[in-house]
Amino acid sequence: MSATAKKRAPMPDDIRAAKGGTPLVSLTAYTTPMAQMMDAHCDIVLVGDSVGMVLHGLPSTLGVTMEMMIMHGRAVSRGLEKAMMVIDMPFGSYEESPQQAFRNAARLMAETGAGAVKLEGGVAMAETIAFLIRRGVPVMAHIGLTPQSINTLGGYKVQGRGAARAALIADAKAVADAGAFAVVLEKVPASLADEITSAVPIPTIGIGASAGCDGQVLVLDDMLGLFTAFKAKFVKRFAELGNEAEAAIAAYAAEVRARSFPAAEHVFGDEVKT
Ligand code: KIV
Repeated sequence: MSATAKKRAPMPDDIRAAKGGTPLVSLTAYTTPMAQMMDAHCDIVLVGDSVGMVLHGLPSTLGVTMEMMIMHGRAVSRGLEKAMMVIDMPFGSYEESPQQAFRNAARLMAETGAGAVKLEGGVAMAETIAFLIRRGVPVMAHIGLTPQSINTLGGYKVQGRGAARAALIADAKAVADAGAFAVVLEKVPASLADEITSAVPIPTIGIGASAGCDGQVLVLDDMLGLFTAFKAKFVKRFAELGNEAEAAIAAYAAEVRARSFPAAEHVFGDEVKT
């Protein structure tokens, strides 16, 4: 799918039709300026619940609320014209019942303008996914390492190894059968990601999975080197903005302490030139 020639944001059917074609490009965004920067380059912009860890300093995504998602979703939607906006359903907002999921998905879409929601889970969430889709809510599924289940998964480990391989393939088929328009595969062996990509009729979007997936997603602040609390092995940093930002802050602090800021050439008598 070409990012530059698009006139409107892709719809779920456009994403589905990208299966097996040019890989889909996706990144997370949480703010208007970053959304504006990626709009021309991404097919899907994900307002991920990773916002809790990346911008709010939470230890996991479990503490992310509907209100946080709505606030960041609104900010991101102001920055997008061409890319499809997908928003994560936070932990506790959809697992209880399909009805609870619909109530919260409808609120997320109505209050942010998102074109679809993403939720974590395979076979266990298939009924909910079908329920949402029948009621007008497009769903992107997320299987493999599902960070909202970190306490039952026992850590941020590779998923789908050994006996768990068949279960993950079943998860992928279940969400595709339920009507999800795409599925995120997080932290699974490349051979398994490739097998799932061949087995399901919807695009697979990999994160720490395989270059053979139908698309890739990364957390923006990870790939920019802005989030440095930890780095997953699969993350490629395309920049080191965290180091640059810290160096700029240190340089500013040094100038202030040396009374060399504002620099003399910016000052005319009592008036500071802007
Ligand atoms: O919340 C998020 O950023 C995500 C991506 C890692 C896929 O779910």
